[in-house]
Amino acid sequence: MKDKWVIGVIGGSGLYEIDTLQDAQWIGVESPFGKPSDDILFGRIGAVEFRFLPRHGRGHRIAPSDLNARANIDALKRAGCTDLLAISAVGSLREEIEPGRFVVVDQFIDNTKGRSSTFFTTGMVAHVSMADPVCERMSALAGAAVVAAGGKLTQGGTYLAMEGPQFSTRAESHLYRQWGADVIGMTAMPEAKLAREAELPYALVGMATDYDCWREGEAAVDASTVIAQVHANAATARDTVLRFAASLPASRTPSPIDRALDHAMITAPSARD
Ligand code: ADE
Repeated sequence: MKDKWVIGVIGGSGLYEIDTLQDAQWIGVESPFGKPSDDILFGRIGAVEFRFLPRHGRGHRIAPSDLNARANIDALKRAGCTDLLAISAVGSLREEIEPGRFVVVDQFIDNTKGRSSTFFTTGMVAHVSMADPVCERMSALAGAAVVAAGGKLTQGGTYLAMEGPQFSTRAESHLYRQWGADVIGMTAMPEAKLAREAELPYALVGMATDYDCWREGEAAVDASTVIAQVHANAATARDTVLRFAASLPASRTPSPIDRALDHAMITAPSARD
């Protein structure tokens, strides 16, 4: 029974300079799926256990297409996480999502190419449901934490995951808008799919950094714009994590996602408990 919260946070390196993180210790966690992006920072915020993983490694060394999302999710699972809170810079595909705004994502369109996106490859077949790809409970808590931290919030939005590392063409940016996507990024897929396969409830807070390149009269996104906005948002993002920790109920009740594989296996599973 997972009745104690252990929150895994996946995000940019600047997120972890939380001076109130207690018993902080970087620990290497090995995974049979290869090398995670970095060691994991174990610590506590009040009564809540946290595990921080810098998605691109400390110093932002790993490009989106080279992220080993399988190792990252597997390492967080091995580090004891019960739930995952992902934080990521995103481009905005909507007028009303201005740079600086936070979007708690509730749907995805996965347009990445050739990334290893399942744990089930060798002799085991499973098809997890991704109809509702995020955890409602974690997403609600994350949205409330953004507001408590003073951030501007859009609760709900569709994230287009693109391969990168190049930004989109204008034609692609317009196409993604027609598809119904609200924000765009290069990292949250297959992360969210793998979290579901690992039976880890997952929420994603997108930080809008730019208007990509669809908007008339606006300069097309470049990396320095993204970095400047990430820095401008860093204090609110850190405060969001603190507020999130403070808002968690004292004990964790089960999530249906804890048993996401129950109806997913095609290959006969061995006894699970
Ligand atoms: N991350 C931040 N802004 C982005 C954009 N415009 N496209 C893809 N990923 C992004």
